[in-house]
Amino acid sequence: MKIEGIKALRGEIKIPGDKSISHRAVMLGSISKGETTIENVLLSEDTLRTIECFREMGIKIDIDGKENRVRIQGKGIYSLEKPSKPLDCGNSGTTMRLLAGILGGQKFSSTLIGDDSLSKRPMDRIIIPLTKMGVNIKGEENKYPPLRIYPSDELQGIEYELPIASAQVKSSILLASIYSKGRTKVIEKKTTRDHTERMLEYFGQGEFKGKEIYVPGDISSASFFIVGASIIKDSSIVIKDVGINPTRSGIIDVIKAMGGNIRIENIRTINNEPIGDIFVSYSPLKGIELDENIIGRLIDEIPVIAVAAAFAEGTTIIRNAEELKYKETDRIKAMVNELRKMGADIEALSDGLIINGKKSLNPTNMNTYNDHRIAMALSIAALNIMGESKITDTQCVNISYPNFYETMWEILE
Ligand code: S3P
Repeated sequence: MKIEGIKALRGEIKIPGDKSISHRAVMLGSISKGETTIENVLLSEDTLRTIECFREMGIKIDIDGKENRVRIQGKGIYSLEKPSKPLDCGNSGTTMRLLAGILGGQKFSSTLIGDDSLSKRPMDRIIIPLTKMGVNIKGEENKYPPLRIYPSDELQGIEYELPIASAQVKSSILLASIYSKGRTKVIEKKTTRDHTERMLEYFGQGEFKGKEIYVPGDISSASFFIVGASIIKDSSIVIKDVGINPTRSGIIDVIKAMGGNIRIENIRTINNEPIGDIFVSYSPLKGIELDENIIGRLIDEIPVIAVAAAFAEGTTIIRNAEELKYKETDRIKAMVNELRKMGADIEALSDGLIINGKKSLNPTNMNTYNDHRIAMALSIAALNIMGESKITDTQCVNISYPNFYETMWEILE
């Protein structure tokens, strides 16, 4: 993909539905009784993996790709059928970790597999608490996929303090607790996204009943355009209907603290999730030190925050973000390597990044490491560099944002 520097980003856009909420809506819809309709659902490679896994277990799910709608005919929490082959989670950590919680409560054996990247990601973080609940789950070297789950006696609720800040681990435990006796309590010292809690509340107590869900736009996908409009002179954009759940909105706080020009209007709540329209225009940014408590609220946005920092005046320091090493690729290494190729002054810490901003960077050839968020962050950087940059393997944006480049071409000037 070739990308040239542009004058501005201008216009009104709508971005696809939230990935985390879409996964959870498909999962809870599949174990509810009756029909669940999910509007504005994200239909990307990751969420399609979740849909396929439930289809494999006998759930009827109709996809309307034109309308971004799925309809699920759920038959209750004990209605899943034994899959005839391993469930393929592809690149999706959310599919594997959350599904393991649900499968732990089933009366059949199952295997969860993933692609090369997912097969290297740590699963002991869910194996340990699920085993404590009585789930019979085994990984390679007790840590990696494939995960093999065997039927077990009744599961027990647990009280568990998360050793690492992870919504995937929290959610895996909460979903297993649906099949457990007694109370489960998960304690998190640092905030992580609370979509599972909100959606469990929305589906109601006792036997879940099918629901209508509207998925807000994904703030993580919006973040690329929030940063783009903040760093590219003369930019001014509106991003409609974005999820602004406080456990996800750290990007807004950080860009504002850096001197960004952002406001949110038309705030309302849809199926227990806050949503609003985000107005962003260019403003010169300053470097800041990120507070350790904000990291969980913007963990997926750090690659694009690094891009904002590379063009800001002064130093940006990001610490307490070691988790970046365990994402689809090592995102600390990836951003240091690629931003350095553009001439940025960026250094890796064991748990983060130090970036000294510069007025301008140079066009170059970049790699995405097949990580969707690295691809989109680098593309935004390229838009703010005069001359032609080249980025290889950009098809990985299909993991979370299949129309990313179409939307980008639409609003650039
Ligand atoms: C997600 C949680 C986060 C995030 C991922 C999606 C979720 O992972 O990075 O993209 O949907 O629960 P961790 O909770 O493991 O940090």
